[in-house]
Amino acid sequence: MTVFVAFATVEGQTGKIARFVSDEVRSMGREVSVLDVDQTASADFSNVEHVVLAASVHERRHPRSFEAFITASKEELKARRTMLLSVSLSAAFPEGIAEAEEYVVEMNMRTELSPDVTLLVPGAVQKGAYDYYSQQVLEQVVLRDREFDPAKVSEHEFTDWEAIRSGLHAFLNGNA
Ligand SMILES: Cc1cc2nc3c(=O)[nH]c(=O)nc-3n(C[C@H](O)[C@H](O)[C@H](O)COP(=O)(O)O)c2cc1C
Repeated sequence: MTVFVAFATVEGQTGKIARFVSDEVRSMGREVSVLDVDQTASADFSNVEHVVLAASVHERRHPRSFEAFITASKEELKARRTMLLSVSLSAAFPEGIAEAEEYVVEMNMRTELSPDVTLLVPGAVQKGAYDYYSQQVLEQVVLRDREFDPAKVSEHEFTDWEAIRSGLHAFLNGNA
């Protein structure tokens, strides 16, 4: 059985997470197929039992292309076990978890799919990837009142790789 990984990334962190998941699946001795939904629209679900969906949040939403992919593939996804990795900076702070959960609830309502397992994954700050507007949103809105000053660092990765690894193993082994 093949594990299917579908992802959408804007600045690249979710792409890195999708590669990590793929490598981990292979290290478990299983086949994996990976789809960047912004590169290829069609998906092959044959021989697939488990699907990992991964996408980042910008201005409180996962990418529209990602939601469109889920909506278009809803019947195939509902027939399989699904795990969502929702990547955001709110997930990096205890006081942001409730908001990170809201992003998922809102997407699930729009797409009418509730993944079997959801992991809120802390993302990364990558200043080199932002234009002026994005930088302002990040500093004035997303990280406002958080115990982290983006003005002081150009890059910071909050992603907890061990949490992804153990969540993935539990999902694929049927313990989640
Ligand atoms: C313009 C912009 C808007 C963002 N909006 C949010 C947001 O509303 N909530 C949040 O928790 N994180 C937000 N983030 C943080 C991203 O989710 C985080 O940087 C993530 O790692 C990006 O993943 P990607 O590189 O795969 O796109 C935002 C980041 C940028 C640059």
